[in-house]
Amino acid sequence: MSENWIPVSELEAIPDDDVIGVAVNGHQIALYKVDGEVFATDNVCSHGQALLSDGFLEDGEIECPLHQGRFCIKSGKAMCDPLTEDIRTYTTRVEGEEVMLLLD
Ligand code: FES
Repeated sequence: MSENWIPVSELEAIPDDDVIGVAVNGHQIALYKVDGEVFATDNVCSHGQALLSDGFLEDGEIECPLHQGRFCIKSGKAMCDPLTEDIRTYTTRVEGEEVMLLLD
């Protein structure tokens, strides 16, 4: 099976220690840059219809803007109430100036 790597953003389009939202093949994806490393998760909160890219990134966790639930951006794990479901994470790699995402 061939791997489905998709270019999703320029590296410099993601501010340091911040998050942006992108649409990839109909998926809403949040891209994070922490210490020069890029992470990706689903952008829609598992608790409601809020975009995590509108939230607040701190200490490797993204805080949802709607009810302040927090997810680990590396594991997608739900860290606190009111969250009951984790979010999906995606593998990324940087090729030159381009951020690539592995989508299956
Ligand atoms: Fe994200 Fe409620 S919608 S915590």
